Amino acid sequence: MNQLQLFLPCAAGVEALLATEVQRVTGITGKAWRAGVQLQGSWRDALQLNLHSRLAQRVLIELAHNQYRSEQDLYNAAASVAWEIWFTPKQTFKVEITAQHSPLTSLNFAALKIKDAIADRFREKFDVRPDVDTRWPDVRVYVHLTTETVTIYIDTSGEPLFKRGWREDKGDAPLKETLAAAMIAASGWDVLCQDGVPLYDPCCGSGTIAIEAAQIACNIAPGINRRFAFQKYLPFQPHVWDGLLDQAGASITEPTAAVFGSDVSFRMVDFAERNAERAGVADAVQFRGGDALQRMPPAPSGVMLVNPPYGERIDVAGVAGVSAAEGAQRRSQFQGQSIDEFGQPLAQDDAQREPRRDRNANPAREQAVTESGEEASDFFPQLAAHWKKNYAGWTAHVLTPDLKLPGKMRLKESRRVPMWNGPIECRLFRFDMVAGSARSKPARDA
Ligand SMILES: C[S@@+](CC[C@H](N)C(=O)[O-])C[C@H]1O[C@@H](n2cnc3c(N)ncnc32)[C@H](O)[C@@H]1O
Repeated sequence: MNQLQLFLPCAAGVEALLATEVQRVTGITGKAWRAGVQLQGSWRDALQLNLHSRLAQRVLIELAHNQYRSEQDLYNAAASVAWEIWFTPKQTFKVEITAQHSPLTSLNFAALKIKDAIADRFREKFDVRPDVDTRWPDVRVYVHLTTETVTIYIDTSGEPLFKRGWREDKGDAPLKETLAAAMIAASGWDVLCQDGVPLYDPCCGSGTIAIEAAQIACNIAPGINRRFAFQKYLPFQPHVWDGLLDQAGASITEPTAAVFGSDVSFRMVDFAERNAERAGVADAVQFRGGDALQRMPPAPSGVMLVNPPYGERIDVAGVAGVSAAEGAQRRSQFQGQSIDEFGQPLAQDDAQREPRRDRNANPAREQAVTESGEEASDFFPQLAAHWKKNYAGWTAHVLTPDLKLPGKMRLKESRRVPMWNGPIECRLFRFDMVAGSARSKPARDA
């Protein structure tokens, strides 16, 4: 178990960041491939990576890598793996297959052959076949086919690693925790927070970015609250795992930097607060309701990380998710105050601006506005103007699929990092806010 070939898949664009993380967690230099990092490590490294990686989707152990031409070759490759050192025939399993330019006509049939090979091997050794469970298997086997090679892995993670175990309240379009962590790593805040640099997400939704950030600031391991597939495998030794958990628990600190989040929807703010509670960072992050176009900076300088709404109505001073009466009451409270809930004064022009309607008050109108895109197209120039005027000294990182966003904001990005939000190609644009204007440093894809 000391010389395992490990592979950690990740979102495309995140490979180099993941390789750095692997080095930090294990001390091992991995090799970044497209959409993953490969390394030689021990079983203990596999456990540590499950516990500490914020960027990997899962931790796989490679068990076979062979040439193939037919389904029978796949059967032979899978039958030669010593599955019995990993699990017993009483446990259930599932085979997942992916392919790039495979000459085989049916991937389903290929997966079936591999499943048969695993089951036959157990029957020959123990006279019992393990059952397949496609929904909640104890063991996941991953198979990757290229034109000529088959690679077979056993998964040690189980549920994908973006499931940290704290999210119950999702909101409408939550970011995956792994992508939020990639934004934080790409912005460099994971290092800056050691010097106390604050982080603020003014469109925080269910709080994913702020909660990830607060866990980083408190050195809380992302996997500390969840279970993993490896806990059911034969090599698993509870005392080793308990030792790693104790070590991770003992490393938790007071936050090294302040973290703030706000959202125009009070419903989202409630979600974010409940999620933060479950993630163990209720005291390390401050969430507030409020319009990103009005909120003043919660600190003199810092890093903003934003996953703004796309293709949905952007509601100025809206109060989504509350009854009309409660909404009206909150709107009047919100307008009446000149100090915001982070203790900062509201921008004067902004405080005087007429708030628009509760975004849930008239769905038909919302639909019309969404389709025309009229209101949404106002939002980004207004946001940029608000930042130029009030956020000098801050650096903003905005994740968007809209490659023309800097032009729409009339800001020049100082950096752009390609990132994938699932199947959607995005950029993380960095804007260095300078009073009254934007720094005009042209950028290339990082
Ligand atoms: C794409 S979602 C962000 C999701 C978030 N990253 C998460 O993981 O849950 C965009 C968020 O922007 C909020 N929003 C829309 N217009 C806003 C405004 N004017 N000011 C502040 N937040 C706004 C929406 O309520 C929504 O929660």
